[in-house]
Amino acid sequence: MTPSAFSWLLPDAPPPTTPLALALAEATKGVGRTRPNPPVGCVVLDDDGRVLGRGFHARAGDRHAEVVALDDVVSRHGDGAARGKTLVVTLEPCTHHGRTPPCVDRVLGEGVARVVVGALDPNPRVHGTGVARLQAAGVDVVVAAADEGDGAACVALLQPFASAQRRGRPWVVLKTATSLDGKVATRARASRFLTGPPSRVLVHALRDAVDAVVVGAATALTDDPALTVRDAPLRGVEPRDPLRVLLDRRLAVPSTATLFAPPGALVFCDSDVAPVSRAGAEHVTRGTALPTVLDELGRRDLLAVLVEAGPTLSAALLRDDLVDELWWFHAPLVLGGDGVPAVASLAVDALADARRFAVAHRVVCGDDALTILRRPRAPTHTGS
Ligand SMILES: NC(=O)c1ccc[n+]([C@@H]2O[C@H](COP(=O)([O-])OP(=O)(O)OC[C@H]3O[C@@H](n4cnc5c(N)ncnc54)[C@H](OP(=O)(O)O)[C@@H]3O)[C@@H](O)[C@H]2O)c1
Repeated sequence: MTPSAFSWLLPDAPPPTTPLALALAEATKGVGRTRPNPPVGCVVLDDDGRVLGRGFHARAGDRHAEVVALDDVVSRHGDGAARGKTLVVTLEPCTHHGRTPPCVDRVLGEGVARVVVGALDPNPRVHGTGVARLQAAGVDVVVAAADEGDGAACVALLQPFASAQRRGRPWVVLKTATSLDGKVATRARASRFLTGPPSRVLVHALRDAVDAVVVGAATALTDDPALTVRDAPLRGVEPRDPLRVLLDRRLAVPSTATLFAPPGALVFCDSDVAPVSRAGAEHVTRGTALPTVLDELGRRDLLAVLVEAGPTLSAALLRDDLVDELWWFHAPLVLGGDGVPAVASLAVDALADARRFAVAHRVVCGDDALTILRRPRAPTHTGS
C-alpha cells in the first residue's frame, strides 16, 4: 500500500538515516508552499556518504532543490567541490526552462558523477527526460524502486502534484474525528473537543501542509472554526495558514464568522444568491457541486486540500468517490445511537456496495487512534 502523502507528519515516522530519506526530510520543508510546483529535496554526498550540502524548493519561482543544495556545497566547500560526487534528489531533475533554468544543466555543469533519483516526474510530458539527459551525458543514474522503501515515500510525497498534473484537481484528504461508535457530536450537537491534544496538534500540522482547508456551511455555523495553524510542531520552516474554503450555497454564514477574520477566504455559492459584502473574501458563484469546486481549486493550482467535513459533506464526497485519503481519528468515548453520525446516508444495502478503503497507516495519537486509509484504486478524472 502506498503511504499517505503526509506520512512524514506522523508521530511514529522514523528519523531519516538513508541519503534519500535525508533528501525527503529536506523536501517536506517545502510542502504546502510550492504550488504549482512539487516539493523537492536534495542532498550532495562525498565518497564516504558525508553530506556536503542540502536544500529544498521553498516556493514557485525560487531556486530548485538541486540548485539550492549545489549552492550550499559551493558556499561551504568552494567551487568544484561537487565534482565527482553523488547528488540525491527526491524528484528527477528538470530539463525545461520555466521560471528558472533546467536543473540538469546545473548538475552537469558541476561535474556530479552520480545521481540518485527518488521518483520520476509524474507529469507525462517530462517523465524520464531528466534521467535520460543525465545518462546521455555519462552520469551514473539510479532511480529508486517506486513500490518500496524511500522510493515509495518519494512517490507518495508527490501524489498531490501528480493529482494536479494528471487530473487537474487537488489531492483530497477527508478528516473526521469520532467517538468509538462513529459519532462526530452528541445528540445536542456538542463536538468540541472529541479528540485529545496530540490529535489536534497533528491536524494543525496537516493544515500547515495542505494548500487549503474546506468546510461546509453547517460546520462553519456550528463550530465557527478559525481553520488556521496554531499548534503545529515546527518542521524547519515557519508555519503558515492554508487557504480557507467555505461551501455555502445560500451565503448563510455571517461575515462575522471567525474564518473570515484574516482576509483571503474563498466562498463557493449559488449564482442566484444576493451578494454579501465580506471584506477580503472572494466569492465563486458557480454553485457548490463538488466536482466543480475541485476543478476550480485545480485551476488555482492547489495541490492538496483537507476537508474537515461534517456528516453531510463527508457523505457527498464519499458518494462521488472524491476521497483520496481518509484520516479517521477515534477518541476513547462512546456517544450512543442518538449522537450525530460521521457520515450521512449513503443508501448502502449490500456490503458489496459499501465504500471501501485500504489501510495505509494505523497510529496511536495520545489516547486516540488514527487510521489513514487510501482509495484502493487510482481515480481517472482528467480535468474539465
Ligand atoms: N468531528 C469532526 O471531524 C467534524 C468535522 C467537521 C464538522 N463536524 C461536526 O459536523 C456537524 C455539521 O455537520 P453537517 O452535516 O450539519 O454539515 P457539514 O457537512 O459540515 O456541511 C454541510 C453543509 O455544507 C453546505 N454544502 C455546500 N455544498 C455542499 C456539497 N457539495 N455537499 C455537501 N454539503 C455542501 C450545505 O449547506 P448549504 O446548502 O447551506 O450550503 C450543507 O448543509 C457539526 O456538529 C460539526 O461540529 C465534526
